[in-house]
Amino acid sequence: MRAADIADQLSTVLVTEEEIQAKLLELAQRVDAEYEGKDLLLVGVLKGAVMVMADFARQLTRDITMDWMAVSSYGAGTKSSGVVQIRKDLDTDLHGKHVLIVEDIIDSGLTLSWLLENFQSRGAESIEVLALLRKPDAAKVEIDCRYVGFDIPNEFVVGYGLDYAERYRNLRDVAVLAPHVYS
Ligand code: PRP
Repeated sequence: MRAADIADQLSTVLVTEEEIQAKLLELAQRVDAEYEGKDLLLVGVLKGAVMVMADFARQLTRDITMDWMAVSSYGAGTKSSGVVQIRKDLDTDLHGKHVLIVEDIIDSGLTLSWLLENFQSRGAESIEVLALLRKPDAAKVEIDCRYVGFDIPNEFVVGYGLDYAERYRNLRDVAVLAPHVYS
């Protein structure tokens, strides 16, 4: 589904499918070069990162391994608590691995901050982050993100894996959701 198919539910298209694909190719070329000769494990954070992982991984020109984690925030009842619960853990032992965490978006940064600390304690050789989107104005903690696709404004965005109540993940573009949809 493209943004034009549901134009009445969106305010603005922030990043088009074509821009996303061009950016993922550019990032894949960088990753190909920077991890040359190293075994690379991509870790996708469910569910939002599914689209980025699928398209980014297939732009790489070398073999990699892939694993997934599912986490959710809890404690104090809000996402901003920064306390994370593992709902599905990795199947892979991180000891000695070069890990690239693949995310759809860095919002407050709290999820990644927790994940980075968690991965470090598991003995990974190196840990870097790739995020398609980042909201600089929403940051509560600074995340050292090596590969960033696009910095976007602090608005309610959906598409390309990002949802509102589990909807819109299959939108090919990234767009601001129209307020009438959620108010
Ligand atoms: C989103 C996104 C990141 C996180 C970023 O996941 O995929 O994992 O939020 O937010 P933060 O920087 O404020 O921590 P979400 O918890 O919405 O789950 P989902 O991927 O299953 O939609």
